[in-house]
Amino acid sequence: MSESYAPSPELAAQANGQESLFAEAEADFEGFWAAQARERITWAKDFDVTLDWSNAPFAKWFVGGELNVAYNCVDRHVEAGNGDRVAIHFEGEGGDTRTITYADLQKEVAKAANALTSLGVAKGDRVAIYLPMIPEAVFAMLACARLGAPHSVVFGGFSSEALHTRIADADAKVVITADGQFRRGKPAPLKAAVDAAIAHGDDESPVETVLVVQRTKGDVDWHEGRDQWWHDVVDGQSDTHEAQPHDSEHPLFILYTSGTTGKPKGIFHTSGGYITQAAYTNSVVHDLHPESDVYWCTADIGWVTGHSYIVYGPLANGATQVLYEGTPDTPHQGRFWEIVEKYKVSILYTAPTAIRTFMKWGDDIPAKYDLSSIRILGSVGEPINPEAWRWYREHIGGGSAPIVDTWWQTETGGIMISPLPGVTELEPGSAQRPIPGISAEILDDEGQPFTEAEKVGYLVLTKPWPAMLRGIWGDEQRYKDTYWSRFGPKYYFAGDGAKYDEKGNIWLLGRVDDVMNVSGHRLSTAEIESALVSHEAVAEAAVVGAADETTGQAVVAFVILREEAQERADEVGEGGDLVQELRNHVAKEIGPIAKPRSIMIVPELPKTRSGKIMRRLLKDVAENREVGDVTTLADSSVMNLIQSGLQK
Ligand code: PRX
Repeated sequence: MSESYAPSPELAAQANGQESLFAEAEADFEGFWAAQARERITWAKDFDVTLDWSNAPFAKWFVGGELNVAYNCVDRHVEAGNGDRVAIHFEGEGGDTRTITYADLQKEVAKAANALTSLGVAKGDRVAIYLPMIPEAVFAMLACARLGAPHSVVFGGFSSEALHTRIADADAKVVITADGQFRRGKPAPLKAAVDAAIAHGDDESPVETVLVVQRTKGDVDWHEGRDQWWHDVVDGQSDTHEAQPHDSEHPLFILYTSGTTGKPKGIFHTSGGYITQAAYTNSVVHDLHPESDVYWCTADIGWVTGHSYIVYGPLANGATQVLYEGTPDTPHQGRFWEIVEKYKVSILYTAPTAIRTFMKWGDDIPAKYDLSSIRILGSVGEPINPEAWRWYREHIGGGSAPIVDTWWQTETGGIMISPLPGVTELEPGSAQRPIPGISAEILDDEGQPFTEAEKVGYLVLTKPWPAMLRGIWGDEQRYKDTYWSRFGPKYYFAGDGAKYDEKGNIWLLGRVDDVMNVSGHRLSTAEIESALVSHEAVAEAAVVGAADETTGQAVVAFVILREEAQERADEVGEGGDLVQELRNHVAKEIGPIAKPRSIMIVPELPKTRSGKIMRRLLKDVAENREVGDVTTLADSSVMNLIQSGLQK
């Protein structure tokens, strides 16, 4: 049975995203995007050419145009007389707060830009940012954008190992971090991971300066000459700074994401196209009305959602938003709803994994708070199951708020497939249609597009789009191979399975490659496998993403131990301690988000004759299903061996 929900007439009448946009984009694709760019963005120099796709798959958008992204996110709002508008309501985990207007933001960004200049950061230099969700993270990103120094934000939950790889790959000159971060009410060190990342191995680190925000006032090791306190360097700077225009295609940031191999990909984005699509989508998909809405995106700035829908989109639109440092259950499970009530949040953008967790905690928790300010709900990061969708609308959205289920990726830079809240009849569980200006299709195994309902295929994007990645940092070939070769150079292959329903809505069905989605975070099986194999006890490892009620998928690992380790494990009776040690080892190598839910010690792994691990079969085991077809295995008895070993 299909159910659908039409927008209310009031919303339909006042929504930013109207039906007519589809026809406009259809009639004149480039004209449509050129209009978005000119309407939403202030250009220091207008562009001559909307799209140059002559060197596909390397796109250039708004060619010849010049702009300053930070000026667009900050200064122009002050110049327009909105300096007193709150840009950020900061809510610290411990309840400390800070109200930052656009005029304040302008000063903070100017000081940070002046400080970075004084540290020798020039246009084109890379700056790594490894910070908790505090206002300085936003100041730092915008200061980099202002100077044209691409930032590489690394999620504060990543380990020093992961940070090291990212610093080295981007050749970052400066790292901006904090002494520590609050996690579930307690301070945890952060700078120590930067120290370890820089001291890592024998290679000389590119890092010249570590700029340290004081957040937890914990002890830190200090490296004279390299380390500087943010308050020493930034606070005394002039609070004015003249923003220089940069080319539309000037790199804005690098953001690492997991691919199908062990090495993370530095997805790189440029300025004019990215900011245009971020602003446009935040306006038409979230239906942001900056003069009246209070917007809250609960993502971390370490992920692309935080880049596009905390920093760049909402600030380019002059939004008032909440920035929350903490977790949903500290100090209590009503924390999110307390924040919604306090700031009268009207647009909330969060992830299905959080929604499922709230469902588990119980309806009575949100019911204690006044959530009547909410008028639009958003979902991002993974498919939202219809039960969670209905719960979200009922218990958070007062039974009437439209939910926009937004499909996109680090690579796409902005939302691609989503309902428009004032137009679309909503279908729970489906991201529905490409938004105006975006074109997608579903292909079969042979690369042929089809439109039959319920047939499963591969999602592809059929036209370039302004916020598309411009490549993988330092690896042109990998960019072509990963995205533009599976179905030939005409199609961007997203890596997701998809189908249509009988109404033509698109349903996203999860990754079709060796990428897992755990709590909306992308993890690669290969990356976790290599972390496991780097432990002395492990001879071989295979990792799968197993279905999990709360997190969508969970990491399940199968490992073969080295002989001595196996003997030791046998002697002690079981490998329990070792399993725990291996789980912690993965957390140390990558970060706690990658910690396997379970690790099974097995005598063999199922492999094809060419030696490829058949993860499909391991997934059957991990999900407690009968094991599927084993005929392509080199040794078909392996699965029996694994299963009898696990039953023991
Ligand atoms: O599999 C899709 C899933 O998340 C992947 C992108 O992950 P990442 O680059 O980390 O960006 C996450 C935030 C945009 C996609 O390939 N995904 C994201 N949003 C959805 C989704 N799957 C289904 N429905 C969504 N709304």
